[in-house]
Amino acid sequence: MFNVKITGTGSYLPEKVLTNFDLEKMVDTSDEWIRTRSGIKERHIASEDEATSDLVAVAAKRAMENAGVSSSDIDLIIVATDTPDNAYPSTACWVQKHLGIKDEMPAFDLEAACSGYLYALIIAAGMIQSKLIDRVLVCAGETMSRAIDWEDRSICVLFGDGAGCSVVERSDGDSAILSTYWAADGNLGDLLIQPAGGSRMPATHETVEKKLHSLRMAGNEVFKKAVQKMKKSAEEALKRANIKGEDIDLYIPHQANIRIIEATIKRAGIPREKTAVTIDKTGNVSAATLPITLDQAVREGRLKRGDILLFTVFGGGFTWGSAVVRW
Ligand code: UT7
Repeated sequence: MFNVKITGTGSYLPEKVLTNFDLEKMVDTSDEWIRTRSGIKERHIASEDEATSDLVAVAAKRAMENAGVSSSDIDLIIVATDTPDNAYPSTACWVQKHLGIKDEMPAFDLEAACSGYLYALIIAAGMIQSKLIDRVLVCAGETMSRAIDWEDRSICVLFGDGAGCSVVERSDGDSAILSTYWAADGNLGDLLIQPAGGSRMPATHETVEKKLHSLRMAGNEVFKKAVQKMKKSAEEALKRANIKGEDIDLYIPHQANIRIIEATIKRAGIPREKTAVTIDKTGNVSAATLPITLDQAVREGRLKRGDILLFTVFGGGFTWGSAVVRW
């Protein structure tokens, strides 16, 4: 069995920045409340002519450039997203078009809410190891601003738009995905849900009037589960890789709330200075938070080959998981 590695990363955040002070003018909230309850100061918002595939395509080009490959070298595109351009075609097919790829190749979307990038990485690694495919563009992108009720202060302050991609391929050296852990619990699905727009509740005038196409979240309950499951999955992945919390060089947790991150690292024994935080500048970008944070860490020179990296996510579904990577 050979190893699998990430050979390039890229990300894209839309130009428009919405600060907490801007939000103070839109809903009954304050910079102080948002900062102290979530750690967020600002977030990026897609322009009217940008859909999720447009954000992903920019991040994908940056990732391929970083890996030193071109679109003709890619064998599969996976896009993890909660906010696809359309129900179909998939956002991955639109990304293939934006990248100008005309060759026959598979492309598909993956829905695992905030856990999407980690799920896609695990699937890509398995496909490479089973020799089905050589090189995968693992992408995640969100236009959360399109799935939000901008009058609901409990939700609209938390999310942002953006995309992150990684080129994943066979490794003949020491770089490797050392262990993974992933899980889901559909019994708790109602706690974080976009109720309308699917087969359970198709769009009607009433669903639009009642704002049932917007994200609903039982914040407190999601918070508690997130801390519990992020700690458990981080510990499980570390145990499977035979690595201790203090031996991690960089921890990239899901960026939903700085208090969830701090509670998780305290309980899992991971040093704060080794934890990458981007939530202050991006808000929660759902599936894209992990690859955006990874790309920023790479570009800031926080990772060198051989370093031990731990990813942890938690999101709707519920879904959660971790991966230990030797960079
Ligand atoms: O990415 C997927 C996973 N998502 C998450 O992990 C998010 C998990 N949840 C959270 O991060 C937190 O629960 C929130 C940030 C959503 C909320 O923080 P909280 O400390 O749990 O606040 P709360 O919901 O208990 O609300 C406290 C108070 C309430 O007022 P009362 O009832 O105490 O008078 C809210 O109405 O804060 C009020 N509130 C606000 N006040 C000002 C809620 N939103 C706002 C707001 N500005 N934007």
